[in-house]
Amino acid sequence: MMKTMAVEELQVLKEKNPLLAIDAIVQRHNADPGSAIPILQDIQNTFGYVAPEVLQRVSELSGILESELYSIVTFYSQFRMEPIGENLIQVCHGTACHLAGAERVSEAIMHETGAKDGGTSPDGKFTLEKVACLGCCSLAPVITVNEETYGRVAPNEVGKVLKEINGQTEDKKAGCKGGCHHE
Ligand code: FES
Repeated sequence: MMKTMAVEELQVLKEKNPLLAIDAIVQRHNADPGSAIPILQDIQNTFGYVAPEVLQRVSELSGILESELYSIVTFYSQFRMEPIGENLIQVCHGTACHLAGAERVSEAIMHETGAKDGGTSPDGKFTLEKVACLGCCSLAPVITVNEETYGRVAPNEVGKVLKEINGQTEDKKAGCKGGCHHE
């Protein structure tokens, strides 16, 4: 019987054999038909997204209907069925950020990158997501990029922020770590 794997082990297994990683994820949840959401969350955490082809395999292993899995992935906004771009931008649409103009920030990012809300830019560089309160409302409107926080982002400064992100992506490749950015 396959042992329960830690998240890090799943990442390693995914690189070697994606199918075995899916098997291990279903196994982690004891192939329990009530575990559809946790199984799909583990798949997204491991692979970055839930590919439609994966659903058939999960269905075979868990006994959960493929149509049910598909309904869950398409219903909940936390799931994505396409790979994310090089950079993940999350725009907070919680109350404070909404009042501070989050909608205009989202629109400016869509305009600058060509990404649709919940989608990836045509050049594959940016994926844009709407999220609930990120917990730093005093900095509204807030966005995170690759888990780094940017506060008081004005729509007309989005271009500058995106440029900085591109620079950081290069820095990260060189091992640089950033902090919390306030405009
Ligand atoms: S509402 Fe945006 S950080 Fe709280």
